[in-house]
Amino acid sequence: MSLVLGIETSCDETAIGIVRDRTLLANVISSSMDEHARFGGVVPEIASRAHLEAFLSVLQQALQDANVKLSDIDAIAVTEGPGLIGALLVGVAGATGLATALEKPLYGVNHLSSHIAVDYLTHQEVIEPTIALLVSGGHSSILQVNDITKDVRKLGATMDDAAGEAFDKIARIMNLGFPGGPAIDREAAFGEINIDFPRGLTSAEDWRTRPFHFSFSGLKTAVARYLEQTPTHNRADVAASFQEAVVDVLLQKSLRACQDSGIDRLVIAGGVAANSRLRQVAGERCQKAGVRLHIPSPGLCTDNGAMVASLGSLMLSGGIAPNGALADSALAL
Ligand code: KG4
Ligand code: ZN
Repeated sequence: MSLVLGIETSCDETAIGIVRDRTLLANVISSSMDEHARFGGVVPEIASRAHLEAFLSVLQQALQDANVKLSDIDAIAVTEGPGLIGALLVGVAGATGLATALEKPLYGVNHLSSHIAVDYLTHQEVIEPTIALLVSGGHSSILQVNDITKDVRKLGATMDDAAGEAFDKIARIMNLGFPGGPAIDREAAFGEINIDFPRGLTSAEDWRTRPFHFSFSGLKTAVARYLEQTPTHNRADVAASFQEAVVDVLLQKSLRACQDSGIDRLVIAGGVAANSRLRQVAGERCQKAGVRLHIPSPGLCTDNGAMVASLGSLMLSGGIAPNGALADSALAL
């Protein structure tokens, strides 16, 4: 049984989680979202400063929630990237200081893999091999995960906007506020799916040449044009129909990846995995296709420290040598 503390500061959340193997003991998040909202997006300098200010109180709260002392911690894990460099540096510096002072191993982890690894805290069940749909504010990828600690292969990714970014941009033009994903999710609940928006990269040629790539720019333009040309539009219907177009294409491609690879398991992870319609339709389609579906609980889909602790814990138990941590804003999978 080992106790791992995970630190996440890649964007606007200063987050620290503590796990004992696959059990979540603490998950404390301090968000600077309100400070960015009036700019319509995250301002890197503001995020870095907010991490510095919040770090110690988040750490103290996490230890208190887990009812453990700093000296009880067996290993520290921290997000190395991808993310905002100034923001990452705060977490990496804090983690390095803690690991050095405590003389404990330090694991630098990939933010994208940790979004998937958090599923272990929800389902406590080995997921590999699995296909993973990773959908966040910065990434939309389909991955083949053979071992989440060391063998993750990218099958396809977005060619323009990430899914979450598409939600955020559409919410902005619809005046629904920031972040846009939860706002569209809420608005869509009052609407009908009655507008046929385009599904990007689903022509016969696309299925042949780039089956696992995404594009949301055509959809974004179609929604903007519809709003402009239809003064009498019903905002909830537009939200529901836009959301359906995103959900449909994400799931069509994920299930195709399961089919082509012969892997009958799908994990959906990242902030957009909190979307209620995506969760519902994924459940229906996976059941029909005989694919076992894992989606972390909604509160663990958006950025948090528990996901970092979860991946760190898997690295520790998997016998992976602690690699230290270096901030890398463009860290790839
Ligand atoms: O994973 P995450 O917290 O941060 C990144 O690593 O990017 O993802 C944030 C993204 C944002 O674009 C946000 O709008 C989206 O996840 N998101 C959602 C929902 N909750 C968060 N998108 C759709 N529906 C939601 N309920
Ligand atoms: Zn994320």
